[in-house]
Amino acid sequence: MKKVILSIDTGIDDAMALAYVLGSKELDLIGIVGTYGNVYTKQGVKNDLALLEMLGRKDIPVYLGNEHAIDKDDFEVSEVSADIHGQNGIGEVEVPAATRQVETGDGVDFIIDSVKKYGKDLTVIATGPMTDLARTLKKYPAFKDEVGQVVIMGGALACTGNVTPYAEANIHQDPLAAKILFESGTPVIMVGLDVTMRTPISLEDTQKWRDTKTVAGEKYADIVDYYIHIYDKYSPYLHGGSLHDPSATCAAVHPEWFTMLPLHMTVETEGETAGRTIGVMEKLREPNPNVKVCINIEAEKVRQDICNTIHGLFTK
Ligand code: RIB
Ligand code: CA
Repeated sequence: MKKVILSIDTGIDDAMALAYVLGSKELDLIGIVGTYGNVYTKQGVKNDLALLEMLGRKDIPVYLGNEHAIDKDDFEVSEVSADIHGQNGIGEVEVPAATRQVETGDGVDFIIDSVKKYGKDLTVIATGPMTDLARTLKKYPAFKDEVGQVVIMGGALACTGNVTPYAEANIHQDPLAAKILFESGTPVIMVGLDVTMRTPISLEDTQKWRDTKTVAGEKYADIVDYYIHIYDKYSPYLHGGSLHDPSATCAAVHPEWFTMLPLHMTVETEGETAGRTIGVMEKLREPNPNVKVCINIEAEKVRQDICNTIHGLFTK
């Protein structure tokens, strides 16, 4: 089993990524580092603790990550994020508050201690801004050589962004952090909009979770239904909510369902194109690119695997 740390801004699709990792037989979640993005860091961590407790996993530690981009002093949740994920990040659904507290240490130190302990057995999956990964690399540069794999949900290579024509949301929050990650040499799988927009989830899928008649199955169905309805408002042509973050967790288990293009990647950090994830032209002839960019996906296999793995968690 791969040891996994989730760096998440929980968020509805982050909540699905969390459930997927817990439901997967191949992944062993050793901790969560909460970050900002869909919600404020403290709200995201509150969601993580509550969801873990509802899912019977009070044993998994949750740490606070950064509260804003690496080169900024503050952060505000955007109106669109609050609309897509709800003010509380989980579709205004009430999940009983956790009975335990967040850990006291910094999430970055947890990532560093974990890579020292598990080395190549460690996979870090980031489904929020890359700020804490950039902080990790600044504090412990050997992370890039020691970690087994980093998988990110973020970016767009061959399609437009979802915040600006150039930028996807997680990269847009902190382009500099993503640039630091890409250019560090860390082995990264980039699961961006090129593939995550191709995997929809529908009300029929969530009904199967509700039909388990478990508290967690019903709550998760309510949370994700909120997301599906909002997608109908913003992007009715998609016919379902995009499985962004759980597609990244799926790629950690089933990379064979994704077509990946190895590239030396960078991120534009200035002006109109800030947040654009793009290959470095000067390095096209250089061997061994550290980033594998997902450019195609066996969408139906991924969709089914995500829905079934989460369903399995409710019937365990
Ligand atoms: O662009 C999609 C990403 O932005 C997802 O991680 C979603 O949760 C939001 O953070
Ligand atoms: Ca997210």
